[in-house]
Amino acid sequence: MSTARLEYNGNSWEFPVIEGSEKELGIDISDLRSKTGLITLDEGYGNTGSCRSAISYIDGDQGILRYRGIPIEQLAEQSNFMETAWLLIYGWLPNEEERKGFSELLTKHQMIHESMRSHFQGFPNNAPPMAILSAMINALGCFSPEVLGYEEGEFNFEESAARLLSQVRSIAAATYKMSIGQPMMYPREFKYCENFLHMMFSVPHGRYTPDPDVARALNQFMILHADHEQNCSTSTVRMVASSGANMFASCAAGVCSLWGPLHGGANMAVIQMLEEIRTSGICAKDYMEKVKQKDSKLRLMGFGHRVYRNFDPRSRILQKTADVILAKLNISDPLLDIARHLEEVALKDSYFIDRKLYPNVDFYSGIILRAMGIPLNMFTVMFAIGRMPGWIANYKEIHDATRLKISRPRQIYTGETKRDYVPREERG
Ligand code: SDX
Repeated sequence: MSTARLEYNGNSWEFPVIEGSEKELGIDISDLRSKTGLITLDEGYGNTGSCRSAISYIDGDQGILRYRGIPIEQLAEQSNFMETAWLLIYGWLPNEEERKGFSELLTKHQMIHESMRSHFQGFPNNAPPMAILSAMINALGCFSPEVLGYEEGEFNFEESAARLLSQVRSIAAATYKMSIGQPMMYPREFKYCENFLHMMFSVPHGRYTPDPDVARALNQFMILHADHEQNCSTSTVRMVASSGANMFASCAAGVCSLWGPLHGGANMAVIQMLEEIRTSGICAKDYMEKVKQKDSKLRLMGFGHRVYRNFDPRSRILQKTADVILAKLNISDPLLDIARHLEEVALKDSYFIDRKLYPNVDFYSGIILRAMGIPLNMFTVMFAIGRMPGWIANYKEIHDATRLKISRPRQIYTGETKRDYVPREERG
């Protein structure tokens, strides 16, 4: 085992250096404070590993993403979302019996409990879908008390994982239907993505027949969003799960974290940015100049990534899918041309090159969702449905560990030093 030496104030200490499956190295500082009295500070955790995990692997310099060792390009090309969900949660591609059993569980659990349906009426029509999704995932746990505690013994992980995976889709579709004043649609005998499209776009008097190309593009969209190491929302799920909270509460927290515009909310922000450029008539180059001005507070949404210092492999696949789906549906979307032009300008601009800013997963995904007819305010919900298998897999991984260890970071205190209470009559 190699070690790293820390020297401070005339003392020196050795800490083990651990090596991952892909030869990445980390200094194990689990006993740093007990040995040295010191802690580390790493705001935003850009240099800090929170856990050991076997679920997904990113090489940010090479633009590599693998789920349980399988390259994302192969899964996007050859797999489907539910098979990929199984791979992430259980660690291997399902055989025919496992696939059939999983499909039956997903079908068994696809309907929302009838009493849950009334909860939707409690939200204002213009309620943000991510708020409803997070609330209803927690509500889902209440309708299956046996799933509320992992350690209660009767908890059946397979059933709960299938229930959460299957119903996140039904809740999302119901949220959309409520917002447009249409009745919620019951699921049919379709596969996962086709059934989602049916629940989104069918009406009692008219059946939406999912276009196979749209269903294929949706499967690919979901596969590409399914997991991504310890991103902000997955880390949130693990943080909540580490206290022993149930899987529904942990994933509901993940939804709230994903909502932010710097994270999953970026897919909506990209389209809003492209629309603003289109309606204002500003050219890409001038928009870029505004982004580069520090005081503009503007960011090129859909660009940049904490880990990818080269291209995001998902963005490359989604860019191709955008072309294919628009051509198949015979749609010409001016926003795609603007996006392409922005990318072209940015990739030649030293501001973006120097900061290693490239298109990320959110840059082209919104174009695909638009082509499918998904409304803008549902874009981040689509990301949440896609990320659910990764959140469930991380929940399982933390609970399968021999001992559940609560996550509790330290801090460097920068507030007032000790001072006394001042009675009201003596205050200025
Ligand atoms: C996702 O972590 C994951 O894996 C996330 C995700 C997943 O699958 O879970 O991949 C999904 O969240 C993708 C990211 C979606 N967000 C956006 O597209 C929002 C726009 N991008 C950024 O805000 C930013 O790039 C982040 C949040 C993605 C990453 O931020 P970092 O790593 O904290 O970088 P930073 O904010 O410290 O920026 C470093 C420099 C700064 O300039 P200087 O102060 O050095 O001069 O780069 C600049 C930033 O101003 N910069 C940008 C920029 N992103 C960074 N400038 C213009 N436009 C941008 N998009």
